Amino acid sequence: MAEKEVVETSEAQIAVHWQEEKYIYPSTEFIAQANMTDKTIFDRFSLDNFPNCFKEYADMLTWYEYWHTTLDTSDAPCFKWFVGGKINASYNCVDRHLKEYKNKAAIHFVPEPENEKIEHITYQELYARVNEMAALLRDFAGLKRGDRVTLHLPMTAELPITMLACARLGVIHSQVFGGFSGKACADRIVDSGSRVLITIDAYYRGGALLDHKEKADEAVAAAEKDGQKVDKVLVWQRYPGKYSAKTPVKDGRDYFVNDLLKGYYGARVEPERMDAADPLFLMYTSGTTGKPKGCQHSTGGYLAYTAGTSKYVQDIHPTDVYWCMADIGWITGHSYIVYGPLAIAASSVVYEGIPNYPDPGRPWRIAQELDVNIFHTAPTAIRALRKIGPDEPKKYNYHFKHMTTVGEPIEPEVWKWYYEVVGKGEAAIVDTWWQTETGGFLCSTLPALAPMKPGSAGPGVPGIHPIVYDDEGNVVEPGTGKAGNICIQNPWPGAFQTIWGDRDRYVRQYYERYCKNPDSKDWRDWPYMTGDAAVVAADGYVRILGRIDDVINVSGHRLGTKEIESAALVVEEVAEAAVVPVAHEIKGREPDLYVSLKPGYQASAEIEKKVMDAIVSEIGKIAKPRHVWIVPDMPKTRSGKIMRRVLGALSNKQPEGDVTTLANPEIVEQIKEMVTKA
Ligand code: WT7
Repeated sequence: MAEKEVVETSEAQIAVHWQEEKYIYPSTEFIAQANMTDKTIFDRFSLDNFPNCFKEYADMLTWYEYWHTTLDTSDAPCFKWFVGGKINASYNCVDRHLKEYKNKAAIHFVPEPENEKIEHITYQELYARVNEMAALLRDFAGLKRGDRVTLHLPMTAELPITMLACARLGVIHSQVFGGFSGKACADRIVDSGSRVLITIDAYYRGGALLDHKEKADEAVAAAEKDGQKVDKVLVWQRYPGKYSAKTPVKDGRDYFVNDLLKGYYGARVEPERMDAADPLFLMYTSGTTGKPKGCQHSTGGYLAYTAGTSKYVQDIHPTDVYWCMADIGWITGHSYIVYGPLAIAASSVVYEGIPNYPDPGRPWRIAQELDVNIFHTAPTAIRALRKIGPDEPKKYNYHFKHMTTVGEPIEPEVWKWYYEVVGKGEAAIVDTWWQTETGGFLCSTLPALAPMKPGSAGPGVPGIHPIVYDDEGNVVEPGTGKAGNICIQNPWPGAFQTIWGDRDRYVRQYYERYCKNPDSKDWRDWPYMTGDAAVVAADGYVRILGRIDDVINVSGHRLGTKEIESAALVVEEVAEAAVVPVAHEIKGREPDLYVSLKPGYQASAEIEKKVMDAIVSEIGKIAKPRHVWIVPDMPKTRSGKIMRRVLGALSNKQPEGDVTTLANPEIVEQIKEMVTKA
C-alpha cells in the first residue's frame, strides 16, 4: 500500500447536511412514453448476470464483427470489454442513421448572439462534414490510427464534427476545455504527444467575441519548451472566410480549416475498423497530485455504455429534442452531447454561449424556439438562473418531459425550484452522479421506474453495484446514516481504461486502497474507488457528500488544489501556498488561497494581483480564487505541515477546533481577524 495521504480539508467535511426528503413520482404521461419501464432490468443487470448483461447495451450498436469475450480481466485492473469486436464510433453516430434519419437534425447549433441564425445540421449534412474533415486530417495533416491530436475548441458545431472526424480515422482526440489557458492546453499537448493542434480564431462568450487564437500561440510555444513540437495548427474560423483574431497567422504552421476544406468537398472516408478496446479519446482531469491525468476511454465499451444510458436514463428517442447545456470540453459533453445521444440518433443542441446572455430568459427562449423536451444542466447553472431570473421560465412556452442535474450535490431547495419552475411540475428529474473517469452515469434513478428524491442521486444504474467502505475497509451498510468512501464493486464498459502513459498511477489512485489481492485477475478483488464520500439510505439511494481528496469541485468541475498552489508558486515573491474549498452560493465551491511571502517582501495589493493573474494564465479563469490572503505565516504542525483543515474552517466561518498543538497557534487568531474583517 502507498502511504496514506492525510486529508486535512475535504469537501465532504464542509458538505451541507440536510434531512431525508420525500419521494416525488413521475407522471403517467412520462411513464407511458418512456424507453425503459420494465423493472426486470435490474435482475438482468444483477451481479449474477455480470458481465454478460452489458451485451444489451452493446447490441444497440452496429458492429463490423461481433466480440468473442465480453470481459477480459487478464490485465486487471485494466479491463477490456467486448474483445474481438470491431467497430467505429463515427460510423455508429453518423452513417448508420442515414437510412432512417437522413433529413432529421443531428445538431442544432445555437450561436450566442441572438441575431445570428440557428444552424440545423441534418444527419446527411453531418455525414458530409465529418467525412470532409476526416479526409483533411488524413491527407493534409497526415494523421492516422493511434495518433493523438489536441483540440482546443469552444462550443460550436465544429467541435463535434472534428471529434467524429478523428473517430472515423481512429485518431485519439484530446479536447481541452475552451476556457482553459494556453499553458493548460500546452501541458495536455505534451502529455498526449500531439503534433497537431486544432483550434478556432474566435468565439462568443458573454457578448464579446474572444480572441482564441492567441491561446494557440501560447500553447505551441509552451509545449515546445517542454519538448513537444506542434507542426500544424489547424484554425477553424468563427465566420468562414474571415479571420476574427488579432494574433498573426504563422506561415507554414497555421492553416485555415475552412480554406483547406474546399479541396475536400465530396470526399468520403471509409471508417477504420477499430478494436473495441482501442482508445477513442483522452479527457484530462484533476487529481490529488500534481499534473492532470489523461483518462483514456475506449471505443466499443464507452460507446455501448453511453448509448445505453442515454436511452434509459436520459430517455432519448430520435423524435426528442435534447439539450445538454454542459460544455463538450468536459466529459459530460463528450458522453451526453456527442457520443451517447448521436449513437441513438438524437437531435442534440450545441449552444455557444453562457446561460444568462443577454438575460436569464435565454435558455427558455432557446427551449421554446427549438421545442426542446429534454434538458440537462448542473446545479451551478440552476442556482445562477434561480438567483437572477426566478420568474423567467413561466414567460416562455416550452415543456420539458425530462431534466437532468449533474456535477455536484444539489440542495433540495434548488432541486425543488428546478422541478416546479423550470420543469413546470411536468418533468421527471434524474440526478446523475458520475465522473470523468467513469465515462457514464454511476448512480441515478431510472426515470419511469423509481421516484425522485431531492438531493439524492438514487441507486446504482443497471449494472453498477456501489458499495461503501470505511477507512479500515469494513462495509458501511445502507440505512446506518454513516458516511464512507463510495466504491463500485464491478467494472463496467464505460469506465476509463487507464491513465494515459501512467498505469501505476491508475492502480495506485483508484484501486490500491481497497484491492483484496494485488495479484488477482478476478474483477471481484478490484473495487473501483471513486474518491467521493457518500451516505446510502435504507432504500439504497445514494447521497454524495463531496470529494475526500485534495480536489475542489468548482461549478461542477474538479480542480486540483495542488495545481492552483503550484500556479501561485510561480510568482517570485510567494514562499508557500495553500488552497481550501469554501462554500459559494452559485458555484457550490470556490477555492480560497492563502500565501506566505519570502523574507524581505511585504504584503501588497500588487502581489495579490500577480498571484491571481498567475492562476488565470497557468490554468484559466475557472480556477480564480475567491481571495488571495497574504498571511504572515501558515498555521503548521510541529513537523511543519500546513494545517489546511484550520484554514478551511476559517474560510468557511466554522470553528477552527483545537489548535493548541500547532507550532504557531497565535497565527490562527491573526488570520481569523483578517478573514472576518474582509
Ligand atoms: C465529481 C466528478 C460527471 C460529470 C461532471 C463532473 C461530483 C458529479 C454529481 C452528482 C453529487 C456529483 C463528485 C464526482 N459529482 N455528479 N450528481 N451529485 N456530486 O465530472 O469533473 O470528473 O467530477 O463531481 O464529487 O466525484 P468531474
